[in-house]
Amino acid sequence: MSARLGGSQPGTNQLNIVVGITGGIAAYKAVGVIRALILAGHDVHVVATDAALRFVGKPTLEAISRNTVDTDLYEGVAQVRHVAIGQAADLIVIAPATANTIAKLAAGLADDLLGNTVLASKAPVVIAPAMHTEMWQNPATVANIMTLRSRGVTVVGPGVGQLTGTDSGPGRMVEPDEIVSAALAVRRPQDFEGRRIVVTAGGTREALDPVRYIGNRSSGKQGIAIALAAAARGADVTLVGANLEVAAPASVHVQHVVTTLELADAVDAASQNADIVIMAAAVADYRPESIAESKIKKETQGDRLSLELVKNPDILTGLARSRRPGQIIVGFAAETEPDDAALLELGRAKVQRKGSDYLLVNRVGWNEGFATDGNSVVMLDGRGDIVMEASGSKSAVADKLLDVLARA
Ligand code: CTP
Repeated sequence: MSARLGGSQPGTNQLNIVVGITGGIAAYKAVGVIRALILAGHDVHVVATDAALRFVGKPTLEAISRNTVDTDLYEGVAQVRHVAIGQAADLIVIAPATANTIAKLAAGLADDLLGNTVLASKAPVVIAPAMHTEMWQNPATVANIMTLRSRGVTVVGPGVGQLTGTDSGPGRMVEPDEIVSAALAVRRPQDFEGRRIVVTAGGTREALDPVRYIGNRSSGKQGIAIALAAAARGADVTLVGANLEVAAPASVHVQHVVTTLELADAVDAASQNADIVIMAAAVADYRPESIAESKIKKETQGDRLSLELVKNPDILTGLARSRRPGQIIVGFAAETEPDDAALLELGRAKVQRKGSDYLLVNRVGWNEGFATDGNSVVMLDGRGDIVMEASGSKSAVADKLLDVLARA
């Protein structure tokens, strides 16, 4: 059993890092990962699978990590060890991560100590895959990697090069230094620890009949990126997702809704004790006055069909009006205006009309803004002054937004 599992040391940059080692030939390179982390001043706890110990000896791992090595789910049961290691971790690095381990992580299995450790932890997870090219390119592995990425797991490599046999190609574990620098980079400041954040994402839909709806093209990607980034920075996040087209992250509380009225109810409840509410969802402003009980038929409608729509509540305006002292309300404005100056003016008018503390203005169009991985925003404060501009991946935009909120 390890000597100490205290979490990071207050006032120092020392992290409590779990290094998971699984059963691949590249396990010998994990020794280099551990050594580099120790030299960087971190506390390392190795959790090795039984298969890993066929490739690299426990005494080596213990000597290099300066801690005893954990492998067995049934050791230290009295100390509830299978969850204690994960709970105390600031960062989990799995190197090498075999195809088998990747599949188990994607499925959330906990049939060994490493699986339990990952499931019991809120720490960022970094994996360095190592396997033969065919296994890396197998659709099962491709799907598992996508699942892990959608949950915020950082995947380092694999590199392209000589594999264990005579073959070469993608699948080779990247070198220890690359793994270590990528791992330490994901360790974010925990500047939202203790803060409760509600994020809405996606687009609401209003039913016309049992099979049709009025909706919009929002995929939920930007809102999910904000939720993920906030959780990685220590926030307690509730994601209210309206018809999300991508998987919701596991590190946040998720509530699924369909219509604007459902979104309004969910946000109303979740915002009661929230410190920050971020309305990234695209909200249907109108809903059909009545929903047809059965499918609307063209035989009974003829050549024209008129829909009578009624206005939905403006959730953001309501939140801004009823916010508690200290509560921060953030809105988004998706506009099709092509001219930059005019776009900004629309944003300024909107933030004043809605009364939110901040508004992130972005341009949308047939090929812009929706369902893409990138975004470009200008963030205004309540007076309409620019406080931040960001362009890049939706997660980079999310972090820039959080940087402003961290100072607010
Ligand atoms: N919003 C809301 N409730 C609505 C409509 C929008 O809370 N009924 C929120 C959105 O989540 C977003 C912000 O208000 O954070 C701006 O949304 P947008 O669609 O740009 O503004 P609208 O109020 O719909 O204004 P307009 O249609 O005139 O552009």
